[in-house]
Amino acid sequence: MAKSWATSGLDLHLPLTGTRVRAAVEQALRDAVLSGRLAPGTPLPSSRSLAADLGIARNTVADAYGQLVAEGWLVARQGSGTHVADRVTPAPAPKPGSTVEPRPTYDLRPGQPDASSFPRTSWLTATRSALATAPHHALEYSDPRGLPELRQALTAYLARARGVRTTPERLLVCSGTTQALSLLATVLTGRIAVEAHGLAHHWQIFAARGSRTEPLPLDTDGAAVELLAESTASGVLLTPAHQFPTGVPLAPARRATVVDWARARRRWVIEDDYDGEFRYDRQPVGAVQGLDPDVVLYCGTASKSLAPGVRLGWMTLPPRLVEPLVEAKRLADHQTSSLDQLALAQLLVSGAFDRHVRRMRQHYRRRRDALVAALRSTAPTVQVEGISAGQQVLVRLPGDATEARATEEQLMAAARARGLAVAGLTSYTHPDATQAGPALVVGYARPTDRVFHAAARELCRLLG
Ligand SMILES: Cc1ncc(COP(=O)(O)O)c(C=O)c1O
Repeated sequence: MAKSWATSGLDLHLPLTGTRVRAAVEQALRDAVLSGRLAPGTPLPSSRSLAADLGIARNTVADAYGQLVAEGWLVARQGSGTHVADRVTPAPAPKPGSTVEPRPTYDLRPGQPDASSFPRTSWLTATRSALATAPHHALEYSDPRGLPELRQALTAYLARARGVRTTPERLLVCSGTTQALSLLATVLTGRIAVEAHGLAHHWQIFAARGSRTEPLPLDTDGAAVELLAESTASGVLLTPAHQFPTGVPLAPARRATVVDWARARRRWVIEDDYDGEFRYDRQPVGAVQGLDPDVVLYCGTASKSLAPGVRLGWMTLPPRLVEPLVEAKRLADHQTSSLDQLALAQLLVSGAFDRHVRRMRQHYRRRRDALVAALRSTAPTVQVEGISAGQQVLVRLPGDATEARATEEQLMAAARARGLAVAGLTSYTHPDATQAGPALVVGYARPTDRVFHAAARELCRLLG
């Protein structure tokens, strides 16, 4: 039985389930308050009106109201009827299987920057300035590649900061690297070579489009791209500046090898430059794309430099792929939000983006130094690698390949008991690849400053 009532101006769908009518009315009202459909202070219809609307006895409604008043959901005011109580609505309990997990006290999982450092003031200023000056047509449907203002600003920024060679016509603004890869997966067919360690999320994007991913082993020079000579892959996805998550940069000879392979075989190099802005000990390693913009698709993102929730990314388009990729973007969502694009363009042009990145580079470098020093002094049995860039380090643990998963799981369970979240390398290992031994991937960017040092101490106690 599902009824609506429109008495007293309220139009509320009230599903009554079960045979016990009074219990059903009570439950339907509790649900309506809990879900926010009935806001605090909302006046309810008189018991007579509601009973008439629902076709039930007036006493049944009066009793249900009485019970809910006793429980604190409703209040009965002399002379003004019954209202929803002015109380804080309890948060709904997470449903089984829901993706909302309780947040750990100390979160050292990789993949997220310090969201508390997002440059809110600069973003607000950029948004205000962009809105004040943008012509009306900037808010209409526009080129699926993105607004010219942002493509222009990104072209200049990428050339200056990452050695990327492109033009505004050959740049596509999208919703993060995730969307860049999803668009590519609609255009590239066949097998895609990937690094043996990486994001399962990326492999799944290609798998969802029917492309099999095949892993290339990693060593101290990065991915073994010379093996591509034997491969039928139509493209290779790499993180050349800072391999995710092991942190090794792709050696110069291998950068040349992979570009030669793509040129000679008419294949593609997909360059995921997710954290190229954050190199601490040497000059930044420039983009491979600069070696040959005709065969390398460069993917960049604001997810590490600003915040993942911003959902802005960009991809360079080799001439042969401009048309199919722009069409894929048009079909996916027509274009990325113009307001966000205008704000980022303003941030870049004003210099605020560079200032923010410089500040964050120092911030993360200090954290990296503190974490590495603490691990080296308190946990001599572990080996810390991949420290020269980015927002995570690889902590190799004693043990061999056969016990990698078990060792990592044991350690992660012990960490959880301390309120600490860390990730095992196994979850970043391609299903067709082998892992040398147990390791943890420790992200040092995510916690706020307030908890970072306590989190690092907790990790050292765990590993010491
Ligand atoms: C390896 C790698 N690539 C790319 C990204 C960024 O993805 P997106 O731009 O979709 O947020 C991340 C973020 O964690 C990453 O770890």
